[in-house]
This record gives sequence, structure tokens and C-alpha cells, in this order.
Amino acid sequence: MRRSSTSPTTPVRRVSGAPPRPDVAVVGGGVIGLVIAWRAAQRGLATTVVDPEPGGGAARVAAGMLAPVTELHYGEEALLALNLASAARYPDFAAELEEASGQEIGYRSCGTLAVALDSDDRAHLRELHALQSRCGLDSQWLTGRECRRLEPMLSPSVRGGLRVDGDHQADPRRLATALLLACERAGVAFRRATAVRLTATAGRANGVVLDDGTGVEAGQTVLATGSWASRLEGVPRELLPPVRPVKGQVLRLRMPSASGPGGDFLSRTVRAIVRGGQIYLVPRANGELVIGATSEELGWDTTVTAGGVYELLRDAHELAPGVTELPLTETAAGLRPASPDNAPLLGPTALTGLHLATGHYRNGVLLTPVTGDAMGELLAGGELPEQVRPFTPGRFGGGIAGPAGVLSVSE
Ligand code: GLY
Repeated sequence: MRRSSTSPTTPVRRVSGAPPRPDVAVVGGGVIGLVIAWRAAQRGLATTVVDPEPGGGAARVAAGMLAPVTELHYGEEALLALNLASAARYPDFAAELEEASGQEIGYRSCGTLAVALDSDDRAHLRELHALQSRCGLDSQWLTGRECRRLEPMLSPSVRGGLRVDGDHQADPRRLATALLLACERAGVAFRRATAVRLTATAGRANGVVLDDGTGVEAGQTVLATGSWASRLEGVPRELLPPVRPVKGQVLRLRMPSASGPGGDFLSRTVRAIVRGGQIYLVPRANGELVIGATSEELGWDTTVTAGGVYELLRDAHELAPGVTELPLTETAAGLRPASPDNAPLLGPTALTGLHLATGHYRNGVLLTPVTGDAMGELLAGGELPEQVRPFTPGRFGGGIAGPAGVLSVSE
């Protein structure tokens, strides 16, 4: 057995004018890091966010579906409970955040239609419907004709679908902007630099060193850097979260501005299984249509490829042929932080003072409210709420806390 070697090897410079040692350093200024910082500051904790570009991250690419029912997968029943809990908080969360920031977040309770194109796709959707029913979820089977009555732009080849009125959407870019403003108004400090190393003394995490040679010392440190959380130097190897990047490419188009959200094009989120492949079309109230997403295990690559764009447009065209008439305004690729069980890692690690909030994978925007509440409670009160305990990092093993909080790790 040996002690972990997490103490800094180079002196850390302080930044003049920087706030004195904060209670909490949140490393990562995406929507997860920001919501945690906001909630911590609301609870009276002096909080600093470390990120070169706060408000960035995977949310710049994400479509923002709040879809616990249509994104249900076999074996993810525990995650379903957390997803449903967070979805239920969204209306109040959106209202509170909009009030605190003065910025709308594009929350739309528009519902979702999940459709199938060929008979294999329909069989797949029938299985999803059966799973939803077993889980007690609200979902209604529709014929192809009924689907087209709801969404007339859908192709005549749609064979059937599921109407899920409880799956909604928010605009992740607006959400990030609103969280940034709410943090600023709540007194959160920002250090616009990259954290390169965790520091610890006497078996306790006490902040991070930044790439400009300065540091942030804090009583508690939260690692909320998405896929990059698996890479921070100074974190004992055993405690590095097992998250990996899963690339997603998305397209943004502009819908005609007829009356009402989405104009005449789509009135609600439409997901589809198109010859075995998954696609979604998310119409925003501001006329934007987001089409996503590929799912690619290619490490840290974020190239937008001709093949990715082609696949999305091909399937979207098969689903709603009019899509190819719309202006294409943006292509983008981002990295989902995926964990071995597709669920997030939330809570303390075996290194006292170091907490994780990562691994949100397909559900980062959906899980933003519950993550903020749970981590705020942990940071201010020392306990995670019951609902979040199945998602602590310890479920994947790692080091154990020894006497006096000194971390011991096996050779
Ligand atoms: N939740 C949508 C996606 O991960 O693509």
C-alpha cells in the first residue's frame, strides 16, 4: 500500500485581485458545472468556476431533448427514475432560472412523436412501447395515418409511432447563457483558464493548478469537465472516472417562419427509427430545427464529416422529405461523456474534498436540474439526497477512504 501522490510538484502562484480561497472550485463551466456553481452560491458558498470558455462544452452542440420516455433503454430503469425526477423539475427550474438570469431558456412542453419507417423499425418501436408500459410510462401507439395527422410533413412511408406528450425540450445554448448570467448575479467567480492538475495535501483535495501557472485553492473541488474528467493529472488513477467521449454530429436548419413554433414544418420533437438507425428532429420556437445525431466511438475526434452529414440528411429526408428545402445553417460535432452504465457519476470520491459530476452521456441537459440540486445539497450539507445515491462514483470501485480521510490506494 502507498499514499496517493497528489501534492503539487511546482509552486502555485496566486492571482492578485482573485477572490480569497473559495469554499468550492467547480472545474468545468458547461451546463453541469454552471448549475452546480449556481446552486452552491445560492446556498451561501463562495464558489469559483474554472474554465477557459464558461458556457461552452457539449451543450453548444446538444439538441436539448428532455426525453426520459422516448429515450428509455433496456436495463436503464435506475437511470429512468433520475431522468423522470429531473424532467419533473424542469418547469420550476426554467421559471427560477429565467427569473434569476433575465434570459429565456427555450423550454417548450411540446411533446414528442417517435415514429418507425419500415416493418423492422415498427417492431423495434413496439418493443419500446412494451417496455414503456411495463415501466408505467405514458405513451400512446398511433398508426402511420394518425402520426401524419399530427405532423403532416411526415412521409407517407411512416408505419406507426408513439405519442409521448410528456417528453419536451429546452434550448441548451440559451440554458448555458442563462446559467452563466445567474452564476454571475449570484456572485460566482470565474477563472478563465484550463485546470491542469488537482492538488491535495494530507490526503485531502484542495484545488487545482491552472495552465497559466496560477492556482485555485478551495475547500471542496468538483470535477465537472464531461469526458475530460477522466484525464485530470493529480487525481489518483483509481479515482479517475471511467468516462469516454462518444461523438455526436448534428445539423441546424432554419424553418419557414409561419405562425407558431416551428411554422408549418413540425410542431413537436420527432424521433425516428429509419431502417435501424436513430434520428431526431427538434423544432425550436425561434425557427431553428436541430437534426441529430450520430453516435461514434472515435475518441476525441470532433471532425464534422461528409458521411455524418449525409447520413443525417438521408434519414431526415426519408422521414420528412421537405427537410431538404430548408436552409442549412450549421454543422457541429460534440462529445457525450459516457460511463459504463450510461448513467452519471455524482458525488464524493474516496479522496476527501474531491467530488465528481460527470458521465451524463445522452442526458446532460435533462439532468441539469437534479444534478444542481443534489450537488448543492452535498456541497452545503455534506449529504447526497437519497435519489442520487445509486449514482455515486464508488459504484465503479476505486480507492477507499482510510483513517483520517487519508487516501490509500493499492500498489
Ligand atoms: N440525447 C440525444 C443524444 O445524445 O444524441
